Amino acid sequence: MQILDGIKLAKEIKQEIKELVQNYKDQGVRVPHLGAILVGSNGASQTYVDNKIKDCHFVGIESSELRLPDTISQEDLIAEIEKWNNDETLDGFIVQLPLPKHIDQEAVINAIDPKKDVDGFHPMNFGKMALEMETFLPATPFGIMEMLERYNIDTTGKHTVVIGRSRIVGRPMSILMSKNGNPGNSTVTLAHSKTQNLEQFTKEADIVITALGVPGFLKADMIKDGAVIIDVGITRVDDETNPRGFKLAGDVDFDNVKEKASWITPVPGGVGPMTRAMLLKNTLLAYNNKK
Ligand code: GUN
Repeated sequence: MQILDGIKLAKEIKQEIKELVQNYKDQGVRVPHLGAILVGSNGASQTYVDNKIKDCHFVGIESSELRLPDTISQEDLIAEIEKWNNDETLDGFIVQLPLPKHIDQEAVINAIDPKKDVDGFHPMNFGKMALEMETFLPATPFGIMEMLERYNIDTTGKHTVVIGRSRIVGRPMSILMSKNGNPGNSTVTLAHSKTQNLEQFTKEADIVITALGVPGFLKADMIKDGAVIIDVGITRVDDETNPRGFKLAGDVDFDNVKEKASWITPVPGGVGPMTRAMLLKNTLLAYNNKK
């Protein structure tokens, strides 16, 4: 078993971006600028947004953060989005999900200018991705593709099982793994909560990508020897021995599955850091498209 080390890779990618941004500074041109909107006070979402801003500081990208109360109306949130759509100094921005229940997520995503949608969630960008046109790729699937590429993992002709069909991870992941090119060229099964006999698929899979949010779900007897295992799950589980009061748990029963896998991502330290690095890449793309 070998570890797919997301911390090490993300560090390399961030270093590359830092050097690119330094070049802009040396040339005396403005640097890229990323914005993040956070609605409410969900603990995990706050941490994600804090980390996105920290990453901007590290690589020298300018950042703006807008924190809004969870009582904000959909109309007022969309009015804030419109302001950022029209802000010439801002290259791209994200609206952290999930949103409070009274807000229609679809309406909010549709309100973001596709040129600034560095999450790649807008239907126009999602469609471009599906058609293999250049666009912003959702950061988590993008990070997994980058990881497979940089570790030279051959996905061509392989059977990939993706578990979970969310718009953020599972569905785009299934599209990217079947695209023309390596990574890609996979025969993809997209499994979800209504899939029957899931094990029948995972036992045959060369690559399993789990994005369910159910700690320890994927067990060793569900995979074949030598499979590549990518764990997107990152659930907060109560842990009194931890100063934060919780630990992060993946969807994979890591200690047992690692004995059978050829490659495996740890949680934490696998997919998560790659997701963060890819948002910076998308911000650079938005900046260069604008130029
Ligand atoms: N919530 C969980 N993952 C993401 C992400 O990649 N982008 C946004 N905007 N919200 C998220």
